[in-house]
Amino acid sequence: MQAVASRRALVAGNWKMNLLTSEAEALATELSRSRIPRTVDVVVCPTFTAIARVGSLLRSTGISIGAQDVFWRDSGASTGEVSADDLRSLGCRYVIVGHSERRREYQETNLMVNRKLLATLGHGLSPILCVGESAEERQRNIHHMIVAQQIHEALRSVPPPRQGQELAVAYEPIWAISPAGPADPEDAREMARVVHQALVDTYGETHVKTSTRILYGGSVEAENVRSFVDQETIHGVLVGAQSIHADDFRRILRALS
Ligand code: PGA
Repeated sequence: MQAVASRRALVAGNWKMNLLTSEAEALATELSRSRIPRTVDVVVCPTFTAIARVGSLLRSTGISIGAQDVFWRDSGASTGEVSADDLRSLGCRYVIVGHSERRREYQETNLMVNRKLLATLGHGLSPILCVGESAEERQRNIHHMIVAQQIHEALRSVPPPRQGQELAVAYEPIWAISPAGPADPEDAREMARVVHQALVDTYGETHVKTSTRILYGGSVEAENVRSFVDQETIHGVLVGAQSIHADDFRRILRALS
């Protein structure tokens, strides 16, 4: 996949549950009228209910669509869940898997994340796997171990991404998610190297180079994005609060172009 091989910056907007479907449509309409820098890969992740509409508004803009979660089964008696197959049929290309808010509020374990990754990759989608330590884990100095373990367990028996797919791993320290405040860029780079090593342990250097990207997430904004994305260790960002207003998001894209 050429985009990954050359490690262009990937900017993923995680709209979380911040927008009604009508508001998501308005944001997508604004983005569709914006000039999106050609040098950056862009994906936005609306709620399930807004995916179809946002997808059709952003068609042929170069902005990809992602989901914020997925279930691991293909169909059946799973009330309230959405399958990878369905997400693909709606035009999704990416899926956020294992966000810390889901790990915390719904007790998602590394095993559940593992199943979701298998389903995501199995249906031709590209996961954005979220990992990151809590403030307490950092204080106890076990953050390297926690993040490496999250990746090793999440990727157990998961085949490497196929042609046209990628695996993005977003290092998102829980304590840095807004409104807290960003990590120190050097600390983020140190953790990106931990992520890189865990990926190499799993897939080997060649696959890591050709089909993975490492992102940073946590209070990213236009003013700090360049201090994180260096193309060497960090290849993009996962953006929450600053992705739900077109102006803020455009300023981030411009800062990276
Ligand atoms: P934030 O969220 O940019 O608002 O800190 C990032 C995330 O939780 O994905």
